Amino acid sequence: MSTEHLLREFYNQMYHVHTQPDNVYDLGDHLHHLTVHKHLDQDPLIQFREAYRWVDQAGARLVADAGCGYGGFAVFVARQAPTLSVDGYTLSDVQRAVARQALARLHQSKSRALLQSYDRLQRQYDAIVAIESLGHSANVAATLHHWASHLRPGGVVVIIDELFRPEVSPTNPEIQQFMRSLHFSLLLQRAPLEAMLHAAGLSVLAWVVLSERYHVHTRPDEECDRLLHAYHLDGVHQGYIGGMLLEKFYNRGWVDYVLLVLTLHRAASR
Ligand SMILES: C[S@@+](CC[C@H](N)C(=O)[O-])C[C@H]1O[C@@H](n2cnc3c(N)ncnc32)[C@H](O)[C@@H]1O
Repeated sequence: MSTEHLLREFYNQMYHVHTQPDNVYDLGDHLHHLTVHKHLDQDPLIQFREAYRWVDQAGARLVADAGCGYGGFAVFVARQAPTLSVDGYTLSDVQRAVARQALARLHQSKSRALLQSYDRLQRQYDAIVAIESLGHSANVAATLHHWASHLRPGGVVVIIDELFRPEVSPTNPEIQQFMRSLHFSLLLQRAPLEAMLHAAGLSVLAWVVLSERYHVHTRPDEECDRLLHAYHLDGVHQGYIGGMLLEKFYNRGWVDYVLLVLTLHRAASR
């Protein structure tokens, strides 16, 4: 099965977990329910605010949300700046349907939710935002290259994701299990990522460690282990195994939650 197909199934199944009757996560039109990322300081909107700040600063009119989930960022932007257009890209048809409903409820015709890979962007953008989605890329270097080639001069790429410390080995068995459970092809780490983005013609404008600025909630290791055990017995969705391992990695100081802002080096270098 292709990576894209696996990810489609992964997120479609996760939606069914989110919408089970005993799950507090429901389909209300409230923006808080349209996020699929971790909640810093218990506030699901922090990533949207942080990313939007850079999009706004760049004077962007047309934005790609690369890996849009339920379209939460487009809805957030519609409330901040209704004239701005967001094209959300997702591999999950279920996510796209939820995002479309949310945009329709807002009568937001300037923004769209597309069932398409972010490796095949439809247009040139002033900003490309990727919140907890780059790690899913089957080829991170190629994805960055593609994004650079679809960025208008003066535009920005805003990435929010987990970056692992240099001492963490991608071959560590727990890391391998984590990567498998979330369908990550590559462990994101600063030095290789910087090499890839430079090769793609991008420069770092800002590098903000959000996990120093905001609190990342984690449970003690013993509780994570107890839950992991129960999850295995239950045959839970793989994403929950990955999430639990990630909490343990935060407890060990193996990982930071980072916001990166990238711009094109020079038009000539592309
Ligand atoms: C963890 S969710 C984050 C969702 C959203 N950014 C948020 O903050 O709520 C990851 C998203 O990336 C999307 N994704 C992963 N690989 C993708 C690809 N190649 N093309 C488009 N979307 C992709 C998934 O469909 C999912 O919507």
